Amino acid sequence: MTSTLAISAKGVGKVILGGEHAVVYGAPAIALPVPSLATEVSLKETPTPGIHIFLDHYPGPLVLGQSEDPAPAFLSKAVSVALEALEVTDTPSVSLSIHSSIPIASGFGSSGAVSVAVIQAFFRYFGRNLTPEELRRLAHEAEKAAHGQPSGVDTAVIAYESPIWFRRETPVETLPIGRPLTFLVAETGLRSSTREVVNYVEKKWRRDPDSYETLFSRIGETVTAMRPALGDPQALGALMDLNHQLLVSMGVSSPETERLVMAARESGAWGAKLTGAGWGGNVLVLTPPELEQAIATALITAGAQHVHPLTLGNA
Ligand code: MEV
Repeated sequence: MTSTLAISAKGVGKVILGGEHAVVYGAPAIALPVPSLATEVSLKETPTPGIHIFLDHYPGPLVLGQSEDPAPAFLSKAVSVALEALEVTDTPSVSLSIHSSIPIASGFGSSGAVSVAVIQAFFRYFGRNLTPEELRRLAHEAEKAAHGQPSGVDTAVIAYESPIWFRRETPVETLPIGRPLTFLVAETGLRSSTREVVNYVEKKWRRDPDSYETLFSRIGETVTAMRPALGDPQALGALMDLNHQLLVSMGVSSPETERLVMAARESGAWGAKLTGAGWGGNVLVLTPPELEQAIATALITAGAQHVHPLTLGNA
């Protein structure tokens, strides 16, 4: 059964607390949702045949399945993955409007959020439920079209909308956060392509497997230690600093990132690290709650384009 009403669905932003890059090689990662940022999708039936996609900042609709398909690969793929899983063979006549407050190519998982929201919207439109695990699996298929060989951590945290423990080929675990953790996410303003940074790390690993595998396993150990430290922000901050240092050794930081990391630490943060693929993107800062404002100001002074508050856990 299809719906004649507009159906809506969303995909939230994400940050990686620990384990980026190493997770591609089998190490664990911890990822956190950023509910204040989201991609919202609205899907409704139209009299005009075809799937008409309206995107923010794009002049006019994209029509899927017609001559040259100019939609970003992951977007067409998200639609086709959803329709295939739903066993819908005739292209439905629908309009899909996509609005997003998630900055693109910045480490917030914008493409994963679009995939999750689009797939969820089609399932709702056809009156079918999806578990977070089914949603994760389908969105991961779409993400492969955006990033080549993603580990799947981004789509997992977005589909579960919860802090998660993620390791390739093992079931996703959601992580309860008891004591509240106060984070700031500072944007360097530099955009980078996850695919390019992941390819760079792969090239370095092929050239020097011993050093890179040592880095990956040290990151894995750091993330393993983060899990019990979720209730101890000072210990967690120190582990974030260590994870950052290992990412610097991997060659994925940038001068802008270092400036923000230093500014956060000098103004009293418990820990700070780059988050996501790197070469710009975002810095994740764990702050004592009483210093949140002062550290946010220090980050802006050090060049952050924007600082997002992110508090997780029960007050
Ligand atoms: C990107 O958010 C995280 C990376 O580890 C890539 C991936 O896991 O696919 C850099």
